[in-house]
Order: sequence, then C-alpha cells, then structure tokens
Amino acid sequence: MKIKQAVIPVAGKGTRFLPATKEIPKEMIPIIDIPMIHYIVQEAIDSGIQQIIFVNSTNKESIENYFDRNYALEKFLEMNNKHKELELIQKIGTLVDIVSVRQKEQLGLGHAILTTERIIGKDNFAVLLGDDLIRGIQPCTGQLMKISETYGDNPVIGIMDVPKAEVSKYGIIDGTFVNGEKQTVIMKEMVEKPSPENTPTTWATPGRYILSGDIFEYLKKIKRGAGGEYQLTDAINMMCKSRSVYAHFFTGRRYDTGNIFGYFEATLNFALSDPRLKTYATELIKKLAKDLSSGKDHEV
Ligand code: UTP
Repeated sequence: MKIKQAVIPVAGKGTRFLPATKEIPKEMIPIIDIPMIHYIVQEAIDSGIQQIIFVNSTNKESIENYFDRNYALEKFLEMNNKHKELELIQKIGTLVDIVSVRQKEQLGLGHAILTTERIIGKDNFAVLLGDDLIRGIQPCTGQLMKISETYGDNPVIGIMDVPKAEVSKYGIIDGTFVNGEKQTVIMKEMVEKPSPENTPTTWATPGRYILSGDIFEYLKKIKRGAGGEYQLTDAINMMCKSRSVYAHFFTGRRYDTGNIFGYFEATLNFALSDPRLKTYATELIKKLAKDLSSGKDHEV
C-alpha cells in the first residue's frame, strides 16, 4: 500500500523551550536558519508523502504561513534583484499539499492523532513528531514505509536502543526479532515511560510511526494515562494485542530537539555539515576546546 499522508502534531505548548515558545511555536525555532519543522516536512516529502496534516492549536498560524506563498515578500525580493532568495522562498511555498486540523485542548499525543480521523479515514498513514530530527542516508519515515510494505502493510514503529537510565523518557516496546539482521521486531507490548527497574527492554520510540486506520478505534477506547494525557502508546499497546504491529531499528542520527541539550547538539552538528559554516565552526570549536583545556575562563 502506498502511503500518501503524514500527520505532524504541533499543538503542544513547548514548555521546555520557554520563554521562546511564549510567542513562537517550538517547531518554528530554527537550527541555524531553517525552522525545525522544515526538516520534518522535508523528511516526509523525501519519503514519498504527498499530503501533510498538521495538528494545530492557537498561536501556531506561523507554521502554516511558513509553508504558504508570501507574495509581498516575493515581490520585494524580485524588485531588489534577490533572485536566489526569491527562488528559495517560492520553493518552500509550493513544497507539498498542507491541511490543518485544530486540537482545541491539549489532551495528549493520542488525542492529537484522533483529531485527524475525518481526514485520514481508513488508509495507512505516517506520523512524525516535530521534536525529533533524524538525519541519515535514507529518510527515517521512508525506511518504516518499506518495512510496512514488506510485512503485509501492517503498522511499524521506529525504534532505537537507549541507555537503561533513559527509558523513562520514552515509550518502550517489547517483542521478538523477525529477521536475521535483528532490525525488525514483531511487537508484544508498548509501555509509556517505564522506570529503569520495570522496563521490558531498552527499545525506545523517538517519534516516527506508520499507523493503520484502525488506530482510531483504539484511540477512542483508551483512558487518560501517563501525565493525565491520552497516550498514543496506550492505543498502540492495545492494538498490538489484537493484530500484527512491527517495530524497526531505523538507521540515521537522531537529535531530541524538544529540549535545549538536544537542540544545542543538533545546532553544532548541523553547522559542522553546513558548507557555509563548516570551516568557521570547526575552527571555533577547536579554539574553545583549547581555551577550556588551558583553564582559560570563557568570556561572556
Ligand atoms: P511533547 O510531549 O514534547 O509536548 O509532545 P510539548 O508541549 O510539545 O513540549 P513540552 O514537553 O511542553 O516542552 C510531543 C509532540 O506531540 C505534540 C507536540 O506538539 C509535540 O510535537 N502534542 C502533544 C500535540 O500535538 N498535542 C498534545 O496534546 C500534546
């Protein structure tokens, strides 16, 4: 089954990024000069997705505007002979078909996905969380789509191994390998944020999913879970008890840009691979490292 739609929930409050997120959606905060959401949308497009469904809330209009045309700016750039910039912003305004739904109350990720039911219907679809940037040779969502096709168009959850001490930050899955490469797992259960003592495995789900239309039935059945929110994890856990659900160790480097540490790490790494900044960033890092190792205080 060819998957055409991707849901990107962006309705969260982004409290870990206050005060920036008082007025700017977290997803619009840039890594260098490209908003985080652009990377996520690009991953979906590179995977073959044709329509993006944003789950939105109040004060998030700038995300939709970013992917729309801005004729006033285009005219200004044209009149000032800024052709490169003009081409860049025209391209962003025509990248992909975008639809938005409102999540009127932020009752959790499971609730956010449920708001897209009338647009998705019964087809399989992808979910990408805007907090996680994943870079690699193959787009992460595309890798999961291929696994879904290989295993009977069943749902597939992207997973990665994490240190045991960190399992309480993630949805964790348990299951059995189905291929010799030990990359794909048939799921037995999924638990939200277990303690290190009670975790079934260290296989964490950082925010990439291929789901089937019947997920909505499970989302309607779940009760409020961890943090008092409707958790997607609880619906997937219920689903994998009654149908085949797979998990797959994707390849690529993942940055947890929902917190300032992951965001900082992503910014440094993206600078080091940006042709405009690579030399500058390398020299700067070397100089800072030298100053630090010689005990020199960092200048404010
Ligand atoms: P987070 O748990 O990171 O929440 O949500 P958040 O509000 O974005 O950030 P913090 O924790 O307050 O800093 C994971 C993803 O699910 C979306 C968020 O936008 C984010 O992409 N989400 C979460 C919703 O769309 N609706 C919700 O009710 C909750």
